[in-house]
Amino acid sequence: MKTIAIDGPSGAGKSAIAGALAKRLGYEYIDTGALYRTIAYIAVNEGEDLTTEELLSRVDDQFIDYKDGSVLLNGVALGDVIRTEAISQKTSQLSKEPAVRDYLLSLQRRLAEGGGVVMEGRDIGTVVLPAADVKFFLTASEEERARRRYEQRRAFGESVDLEKIKADIHARDERDKNREVAPLKQAADAILVDSTDMSEDEVLDTMASYVENDHVL
Ligand code: DC
Repeated sequence: MKTIAIDGPSGAGKSAIAGALAKRLGYEYIDTGALYRTIAYIAVNEGEDLTTEELLSRVDDQFIDYKDGSVLLNGVALGDVIRTEAISQKTSQLSKEPAVRDYLLSLQRRLAEGGGVVMEGRDIGTVVLPAADVKFFLTASEEERARRRYEQRRAFGESVDLEKIKADIHARDERDKNREVAPLKQAADAILVDSTDMSEDEVLDTMASYVENDHVL
């Protein structure tokens, strides 16, 4: 049972691929972005301007867990309520905070204990699981990531503006790459997969072969 880390910018298809790869391998899929989103969701629901310390103490009063590909907040699965644009921006802001990252570090490591997991995020190969058996850095051009997000939101029935999505993706990338603690970056020993001109199946087959052949293609 291996431990697999997948990092990359937003909109690169990490969630879909990580979920499908986990299914193919019979592993558990852990979406760490959903854990960060849950903290942002709690912050927005508290509805006041809390310091990070105050926020984390409110978070501590609640019970966050992860099961079957979903975050459980006090035992209840959080669905799409953590996927709105407002929560995305709030998450990106909060994930710069060292205390927030620290808070989630032990939970993430506990979830990966024993292996048999595909864990996806921004700093899994670099910080959370530096000894992961296989590390991927999954990316795609900014243009293509914006296009995919646009299609996804339209499919949800939202009215969306492509230029606005491009600007949001760019803003999030900049924040994720330039923050001081655990910035988004490719681990030295990660395999780079650029999905710009690849279908989801092609990406999945490529990554699965790396895992099945112990990195060597
Ligand atoms: O993958 P996502 O879009 O659900 O992530 C939401 C935000 O959380 C994103 O702005 C980056 C942040 N994040 C992070 O900093 N570290 C992680 N391991 C996962 C997500």
